[in-house]
Amino acid sequence: MQTSSLICHRGASAMAPENTLQAFELARQHGQRWLEMDVAVSADGEAVIFHDEILRRCTNGSGWLIRQSLAELKALDAGSWFSEQFTGATIPALTEVLDWAARHHMFLNLEIKPVLGREPETAAAIHRALEWAFEHTALQADQILFSSFNPLSLQLARECHPGLQRALLTEAIAVDAAARLAALQCEGLHFCAELVDEVAVAELKSLGYQLRCYTVNSAIQAESLFNMGIDAVFSDYPALLSGASETAR
Ligand code: G3P
Ligand code: MG
Repeated sequence: MQTSSLICHRGASAMAPENTLQAFELARQHGQRWLEMDVAVSADGEAVIFHDEILRRCTNGSGWLIRQSLAELKALDAGSWFSEQFTGATIPALTEVLDWAARHHMFLNLEIKPVLGREPETAAAIHRALEWAFEHTALQADQILFSSFNPLSLQLARECHPGLQRALLTEAIAVDAAARLAALQCEGLHFCAELVDEVAVAELKSLGYQLRCYTVNSAIQAESLFNMGIDAVFSDYPALLSGASETAR
């Protein structure tokens, strides 16, 4: 799957509270089409957008996200930790984001972030949200790219949604990356930009895989990665690439 060369990491997360609709909308207003976001599951089995397992860093709540219901999570303020201007921002349910993406024809990299051992509940929650969106909104299959550090989550995503694309997330490129990608039937590898290895990049590109690097907040670093053959970078800054308007196809 071809993404744009810049994917907004947790939305426009340098300018708005990460993983909120405000951060996603700001990225869209900057002309961006592709967003990365982290997907977790609530105590009552709803898929929500949040990076951490605990609530403290990005909300006025505390404790484990997975122990709170969607209603309890929606009551938290997920904006004022970033700045007063965003007071009242909430943790989005995945369904809210899918509905927004369908209306604005935005493309989403859903990074599946299960609590270890809770992969099946997380997969089921994402499945329900997507089934709802495919039935009730104009969302199309090519607007979704799954990724995960968790191989079981990728396997479950494949079983639930065989038609949707998947990428494996990793830190450095493992020596057996090609074999892992083949086994999981992934279309690409997302890995840490700081740990890039030119030889491994060339090998994976020769096999046809899409390669995308996180998290790149320097235009010079992005340029060097593109020159190496990297297809896309995740950035907190939607205008990283000189504000050029990115297209999704
Ligand atoms: O999906 C790329 C990147 O977001 C992976 O790491 O911790 O920012 O979710 P993290
Ligand atoms: Mg992420």
